[in-house]
Amino acid sequence: MHAGSPDISLLFEPKSVAVVGASPNRGKIGYKIIENILEDGYKGRLYPVNPKGGEVLGHEIYTSLSAIPDDIDMAVLTIPEKQVFPAVQECAARGVKYLPIITSGFSEVGNIEGERQIVTYAREHGMRVLGPNIFGLYSSRVSLNATFGPRGIKHGKVAILTQSGALGIAMVGKTAVENIGLSAILSMGNKSDIDEADVLEYLVRQDETRIILMYVEGVQKGEKFVQALKAATKVKPVVVIKSGRSKRGAVAAASHTGSLAGADEVFDAIMRQCGVMRAESLKDAFNWCKFLAESPLPEGDNGVIVTNGGGIGVMATDACEKHNVPLYDDAKTLKEIFSPVTPAFGSTKNPVDITGQATGEDYTTALSAGLTRTDLHTVMALYCETALFTPESLTAMIRENSRRYREAGKPILFSIIGGKAIEDSISVLRKEGIPVFDDVYDAVSCMGTLYRYRRHVREPLEADAVADIDLKRVEQAIASARADNRTFLLPLEAHQVARAVGIPMPKSGVARSLDEAVRMAEGIGYPVVMKIVSKDIIHKSDAGGVALDLDDKSEVIDAYQAILHNARRYNAKARIDGVEVSEMIKRSTETIVAARRDAAFGPVVMFGLGGIYVEVMKDVAFRAFPLTLHEARTMVKETRSYPLLLGVRGEKRKDIDGVVDAIVKMGTLISLCPDITDIELNPVVVYEHGQGVKALDVRILLGTSKR
Ligand code: COA
Repeated sequence: MHAGSPDISLLFEPKSVAVVGASPNRGKIGYKIIENILEDGYKGRLYPVNPKGGEVLGHEIYTSLSAIPDDIDMAVLTIPEKQVFPAVQECAARGVKYLPIITSGFSEVGNIEGERQIVTYAREHGMRVLGPNIFGLYSSRVSLNATFGPRGIKHGKVAILTQSGALGIAMVGKTAVENIGLSAILSMGNKSDIDEADVLEYLVRQDETRIILMYVEGVQKGEKFVQALKAATKVKPVVVIKSGRSKRGAVAAASHTGSLAGADEVFDAIMRQCGVMRAESLKDAFNWCKFLAESPLPEGDNGVIVTNGGGIGVMATDACEKHNVPLYDDAKTLKEIFSPVTPAFGSTKNPVDITGQATGEDYTTALSAGLTRTDLHTVMALYCETALFTPESLTAMIRENSRRYREAGKPILFSIIGGKAIEDSISVLRKEGIPVFDDVYDAVSCMGTLYRYRRHVREPLEADAVADIDLKRVEQAIASARADNRTFLLPLEAHQVARAVGIPMPKSGVARSLDEAVRMAEGIGYPVVMKIVSKDIIHKSDAGGVALDLDDKSEVIDAYQAILHNARRYNAKARIDGVEVSEMIKRSTETIVAARRDAAFGPVVMFGLGGIYVEVMKDVAFRAFPLTLHEARTMVKETRSYPLLLGVRGEKRKDIDGVVDAIVKMGTLISLCPDITDIELNPVVVYEHGQGVKALDVRILLGTSKR
């Protein structure tokens, strides 16, 4: 039972902090944390605790928590594993609210019970645990550096959450080199209690934080994480680095969908769905954070490249295409703006090439034109080293223009390429927080991320889509499989589920006599298909138990008799339940729509084009459920074979709304029926726009135990 959660602000703004395991011994983590807290100027009250008493760095050490004459908001525990639980009990007695536990030796080495005991006790007593197995936390609000990492952390706008301790400490060092200011750093460790979602809730409303960077190794409470990310990214950008592109999860998966849903593909898709920007490298992550923390959002889509070299101009244009940076292409207006600074042998088209003879003044004139025009929204200024600039004048020109753009609220960045003097200039300017890059791709990737974020925040808010389904009929079908001790549904049961969900299926029925077969065929309308129905005959075609394309009554009569005859000859002992008579389906574009319960994220939906597109090219898209209709449409569009649904070689556009509807229905089903682990409609035949879809086959798997 939880005794309520203390205000999350106390984790970042504690008025008093005890360090349990504080030590006067310089080699100890318990010394280093005290030193960091003191040196970095914690604004609250600090209480070192150690039964031996004494002093550390001029501060009295209390022999126990009970000896502290004050309320304690936070207790950082840095004592051996065996001592942690008794200390947690003492913390509860003192009304401590937050417990960052540095100590290792818990679930990360299999000591799950020890960790569970601590968290359960803490939660029952109104406390929350950060970690264990962490390097601590930093919060700029109260200048608290309760870590054993580097000291002298610069206050700023980037918050870092990291699941890796060593990498986290290294990231702190790296931010210092890059002169990136931080608002908070949290080492998440084993995430036994507090996870990223809890922390995001605070960071989103904390003004200092402009951007959040997360290093994630694994996600446990995925559904909560997704909700928190969706809320956070509407307020400020979130960048994630995730390790582990492993395919192991996929190998073990039982279903077709499962085999395509590699853990990383699902993670990647869900991050995009949440508006999170995933960085492939630390370099990208830091570049994006630094740029997005300072840059205003563009007012519009008219981006301009100004360059003194054609080559890097083209490189930047290519990079803009890759990173979706929109470039202004109104040649007339560009000419009007830039011809005064462009020699006749240059180009006023985008990229605007002011040529190798451009001086510092020419750059400033060109950039001033970009600055004052309200119809230009972003500028990327590129420079290849020439003899017309001194390094000093280059540095001054960039500094000055960067300042003017910042004041005007217009995004600008620079990419400058050259020798040692240029490198020096870059390092000076970067230290001042000016976005200058030695590589065009790095610069454009930052601008692309800025635009991506702009697009995300401007997306209209839409409610999640949910389908209306007949749960009772679904549960009947599941109960019949459970009664039989099966973890899969037989075709007739699966069809019952699909119908209960409202998935259009071919008309069909099971005939138990010749007369019934004929009546059914007439009712369905010719042509029809007939198939033997027997649990003892799996491979129906091999048994001669299938007849296709039956056009009239006499063909149905012949087929019925032939199917029964063949089935008996194939297996005389087979129990025959009848002959299925179904509508013969017209061919059209085939797709797969599926849903599964992901170990980390819960309900996940999948879409792909059928046949080779899925089998060979693995051309599929995923999303977490619930999702909006807009997201479901985007998911369909995301597949490389999407143009086939738009119609190729004179074909008409296909019924994409029908596909979207099936996706929402599959997601609703799996989220409402905890018994179902996988459901796959394959193929789903998609007809022309307005004519709907039809699922020809349905496979449903159940979890091994009833939920
Ligand atoms: N209350 C207060 N102080 C206590 C205590 C208690 N219940 N039990 C022990 N202490 C004191 C000890 O007396 C010692 O002080 P001293 O230096 O004056 O003797 C101090 O706490 C530390 O205890 P010690 O036994 O010396 O342990 P340690 O400092 O060698 O190791 C940890 C403690 C927590 C650092 C260690 O167990 C650990 O987990 N290390 C890994 C940390 C890590 O890597 N975390 C993840 C980073 S990403």
